[in-house]
Amino acid sequence: MDLGAGGGDDAAPATGVVARGDDQPGARLGLLVGGLHDDEVVQRLQRQVETLRLLQHGRNDTPGVVDRRRFRSDRLDVDHFHSRFSDDNLRFWAPLFVEAAGIERGHRVLDVGCGTGGYAIEIAAAVSAEVTGIDESGRFVACAREDAGAVDFVVGDAERLPFADASFDRVLLSLVLHQLERPEAALGEAFRVLGAGSRVLVRTIAPEDVHDRIPERYLPAMAAADAARLIPIDLLVQMLQESGFVEVSTTRVLRNKRLTLAEVETGIHAERARYDSLSDAEVETALRQLREDGGPWIDPRPNTILIGAKC
Ligand SMILES: C[S@@+](CC[C@H](N)C(=O)[O-])C[C@H]1O[C@@H](n2cnc3c(N)ncnc32)[C@H](O)[C@@H]1O
Repeated sequence: MDLGAGGGDDAAPATGVVARGDDQPGARLGLLVGGLHDDEVVQRLQRQVETLRLLQHGRNDTPGVVDRRRFRSDRLDVDHFHSRFSDDNLRFWAPLFVEAAGIERGHRVLDVGCGTGGYAIEIAAAVSAEVTGIDESGRFVACAREDAGAVDFVVGDAERLPFADASFDRVLLSLVLHQLERPEAALGEAFRVLGAGSRVLVRTIAPEDVHDRIPERYLPAMAAADAARLIPIDLLVQMLQESGFVEVSTTRVLRNKRLTLAEVETGIHAERARYDSLSDAEVETALRQLREDGGPWIDPRPNTILIGAKC
């Protein structure tokens, strides 16, 4: 396992707020917005406006930009989607999530955007954690329930979690935020449902890392669409901090996955449904080039894991 290879731990400092008394300048405004001094309020609001402005890049109400929801996994065939939970991928990612998030026996773990449930089931079995999976796709949840073991699977929205405050010790958001209309709302919900002394784990792909992936290396329009819908890592760090998480860290992970020509071709045909910007000509050119090159390829597939703590 190559945790941290090709990148480092860029621990960001915890954010703190200072509450001021009634006799301080600006205290009236401070009292109205949670006991903050007006300078801090203005700075915080400016940061939040900037976050929202950056997040517009990927919203369907902004003309000329990529709509993240158009790429949601629910547009895919269930069997193709479920292949992401191959034994090989489970062996690689589940122990990494357990270690990075510090998941222990008996922890209440929520896997948000669990899809057909592979990681939730694997983690529950590996560490005897009490795992719940939630996904907006009824089709994916029905598939997950077929072999759920001890995991409870629920249909629901990451932006409006149907759970009480402080009901979990760990929340996992693996490859989910870039599919949401309001990723900042999902982080706020993760913070709400976590108890004190708990952690969130976000797995994502940095926009600058998509161009080296296969098949994106052969499909520039796919790479461009992926880069546009993924959320920059520094923005994610900022969003985690604005949600209340502290001790936010990032780690780049190289997957180094071996891919055969057949696997890459099957993937392109299955994924095409989500990439409206891909022309037939581009796909044909890519397939021709892939066949000439022949494979197999070792795809570095860099991912980034972010951890945030709730005090
Ligand atoms: C790329 S898949 C990731 C699946 C799995 N977590 C993984 O790491 O492989 C994204 C998942 O998020 C789910 N999803 C998208 N929008 C959602 C929402 N608003 N609420 C809950 N789940 C959502 C999709 O249905 C899909 O299962």
